[in-house]
Amino acid sequence: MLAGVAHAASDDPVAVLSTWDFGKAANEAALATLRAGGTALDAVEAGAKVPEADPDNHSVGYGGYPDRDGHVTLDAIIMDQDGRIGAVAALEDVVHAISVARAVMEKTPHTMLVGEGATRFALDQGMPRVKLLTPAAEAAWREWLKTHRYRPIANIENQLPGPPGSALNHDTIGIMARAGDGRMAAACTTSGMAFKMRGRVGDSPLAGCGLFIEKGVGAAASTGVGEEVTRIAGTARVVASMRAGLSPQAACEEAVRHIAQLRGDAIAGLQVGFLALGASGDVGAFALLRGFTYAVTRQSGRTEVLPARSLFARSE
Ligand code: GLY
Repeated sequence: MLAGVAHAASDDPVAVLSTWDFGKAANEAALATLRAGGTALDAVEAGAKVPEADPDNHSVGYGGYPDRDGHVTLDAIIMDQDGRIGAVAALEDVVHAISVARAVMEKTPHTMLVGEGATRFALDQGMPRVKLLTPAAEAAWREWLKTHRYRPIANIENQLPGPPGSALNHDTIGIMARAGDGRMAAACTTSGMAFKMRGRVGDSPLAGCGLFIEKGVGAAASTGVGEEVTRIAGTARVVASMRAGLSPQAACEEAVRHIAQLRGDAIAGLQVGFLALGASGDVGAFALLRGFTYAVTRQSGRTEVLPARSLFARSE
């Protein structure tokens, strides 16, 4: 069963592509950065910072739902087509995880910092210490503590902002940019699953899971329940399929079908989606469940939010 749309490159090439409806504002910031002369890397950082700063977005950055102990912890990765990577996991007290990730990439010999070390590094870079737990997110957490029911609700990103405690979110923004010269970069940032175990890290900050990019091939990002993506190194798989000749759409579909085949009933009701941008500007998007959306911004500035095709017609 397939639902949604797929589309190919046009004479108005894709400049920015990102997950979910809230990707629209991120794409617009990214395109403005490209138009101001920024690189693809600058663009995806600028785009990712938009939901990170939005207190009404409870799955990314400031205002993200906390772990079950009440701590908001952020995961992020940024990558360019030359294989440069920076990532952070379980970062606390800093809003712009994506900028910390970029600083890891540019100012350290490493690819990832985690936890207290990541926070200390960010503060040493001059980034401000900010309490990430907003009153709304705290209210949702306190409501959740009454039941401790732990079952992510599919597609909650499209219901943001929701009433406190109404649902568990599990998501992220993945954003990919293709500059006028064809150079590509990608970023991914999230507060991860709401009310996760302390110390839980999802797919998002892991290269080849939440995000991957390869020069001359393209980029891919994932969304949904990170554990299911990590099990198959999802975005590395999508990019490998593209390298082998599959279109971005076919590559996303192959990865989703593989999860379904591998996991069977274990993934019932869980959402996973892949979004891919080929080196020539073709877009692919596919999810397990109906309800995954993505934002496409073309070089002309036209932005559309589109429904992805899905393996199952149901949305939960
Ligand atoms: N995909 C985001 C997460 O599972 O943390």
